[in-house]
Amino acid sequence: MLSKTLEDALNKQVAMEASASYVYLAMASWMENEGFEGTAQFLYAQSDEERMHMMKLFHYINEVGGYALSPAVAAPDIKFDSYKHVFERVLEQEKKVTAAIHNLMDIATKEADHTTANFLQWYVAEQREEEAQFNTILGKLKILGNDGSGLYLMDRDLAQITAQASAGKSVAE
Ligand code: FEO
Repeated sequence: MLSKTLEDALNKQVAMEASASYVYLAMASWMENEGFEGTAQFLYAQSDEERMHMMKLFHYINEVGGYALSPAVAAPDIKFDSYKHVFERVLEQEKKVTAAIHNLMDIATKEADHTTANFLQWYVAEQREEEAQFNTILGKLKILGNDGSGLYLMDRDLAQITAQASAGKSVAE
C-alpha cells in the first residue's frame, strides 16, 4: 500500500512529466518553424516519450492503491534564442527531472517501499540515458558550430536518430 507521502510525490512527478511533454512540444514547434524538420521530429518523439513516462507513473499509482491525478500544466515558453539554446534548456530540464526521481527514490527507500523503489529503477536508468544523449548533442553542437552548415548536419543527424528509433520501436511491437 502506497503511503500518502509517496502518493503525493508520485503525483507531483506525473505533473513534471506532463510539463516536460509540453515543453518538448513547444520546442518541436519552434524548430519546425525555423526549418529544422529533423530536429522537430526528434522533439515530437521526445514529447511522446514524456507522455509515456507520465502514463507509466499514472497507472502505477492507481495499481498500488493510490489515486492518480490528471495534472494542470503551465503554458511552456514558446520562443528560444537559438538552436543551441533549446538543447541547453532541455538538459537543464532533464537534470531537474533526474533530481526529482532521485528524491522519489530516497523517499521510497526511507519508507522501505521496495515495490515503488523497484518501479523507480526504470526511471533512474532512463534519466541516465536521456542526460547522456543530450550531453552528446550539446557536445556535437560545439564541434559543428551553432550556425548554418553545422546545424544542417545536426538536423540531419537527429532525423536519422528519430527514424532509427521509430523503426526499432515498430520491430519491437
Ligand atoms: Fe521523463 Fe525526460 O523525463
